[in-house]
Amino acid sequence: MIGRILVLGATGTIGAPLVAALVAGGQQVRAASRQAASMPGAEPVHFDYADPSTIAPAFEGVDRVFVLVPAGTLDIVGLVRPVLQEAARRKVKVVLLSVLGADADDNIPYRQLELSLERGAVPFVILRPNWFADNFHTFWRAGVSRGVIAVPAADGKSSFIDARDIAASAAAALASDRFDGKAFNLTGPQALSYAEAAAILSRALGREIVYTAVDDRTFIDGLVAAGLAPDYAAFLASIFHPVREGWTAGVTGDVQALTGRLPRPLEVYAADHVGLWG
Ligand SMILES: NC(=O)c1ccc[n+]([C@@H]2O[C@H](COP(=O)([O-])OP(=O)(O)OC[C@H]3O[C@@H](n4cnc5c(N)ncnc54)[C@H](OP(=O)(O)O)[C@@H]3O)[C@@H](O)[C@H]2O)c1
Repeated sequence: MIGRILVLGATGTIGAPLVAALVAGGQQVRAASRQAASMPGAEPVHFDYADPSTIAPAFEGVDRVFVLVPAGTLDIVGLVRPVLQEAARRKVKVVLLSVLGADADDNIPYRQLELSLERGAVPFVILRPNWFADNFHTFWRAGVSRGVIAVPAADGKSSFIDARDIAASAAAALASDRFDGKAFNLTGPQALSYAEAAAILSRALGREIVYTAVDDRTFIDGLVAAGLAPDYAAFLASIFHPVREGWTAGVTGDVQALTGRLPRPLEVYAADHVGLWG
């Protein structure tokens, strides 16, 4: 493979370390975002899912694409289908960032995207990451800074994964054809409850972070008060159901299978990001 790699969501939590890893590996990278922000070693391109006229120019000269769905939308299939159609038309390999558990039911929107790749003719790799460790400095940052993580997870455990390990997995899937046609469930090395995660963050920050289990209503009301759309807040609450059921507690060897390295424990994530919480 000698062409360019188009990275959608290039400036985000996964995209930024992915672009850096691909550039470091000598790949030609086109970094797509609405702002077309410049990134070291990559060619920026303006791309907006909401504007289909930006799809074809982004794909010019590309032979592989990393497809990431931005958070905040509920019509995932409608948003991403034109991108997958463009990839199919140009015979561009797709590495899709899906979500852990998407294969539980064919009606799950991410599963519908996966199925369209599985039924199509272009090479693909599906990556299904578990909850990101990085949520502690993105979605839950204000809470962690105040010393409280309040989510409807009850005592459920999750094998939180560091975004850098997802990015390294995606870089491996893009750089090689060894993994084509397969799906990988990406997890961190250990299942932790939110109370256990809060204890790890407390030790890293040198002050107490407590976990408060809240119900869905309290969680949704808090998100809406912070400015989220009510239907998206309800969607976020709904994805804690698998956590409470214990379905996000599994640990796989898939990061190591793709990258040759073990995923980072939450302690390493916390130590490396300690400056991000006020
Ligand atoms: N957080 C988790 O625990 C978790 C777990 C499993 C899977 N996931 C999946 O991870 C994905 C989110 O990844 P992330 O955290 O890396 O995202 P992110 O940090 O929110 O980054 C979003 C990226 O997409 C770009 N973007 C936003 N809106 C866009 C649009 N309309 N058109 C084109 N580009 C757009 C952004 O740049 P601009 O703003 O400049 O466009 C940015 O580069 C979601 O699909 C989510 O389901 C998340």
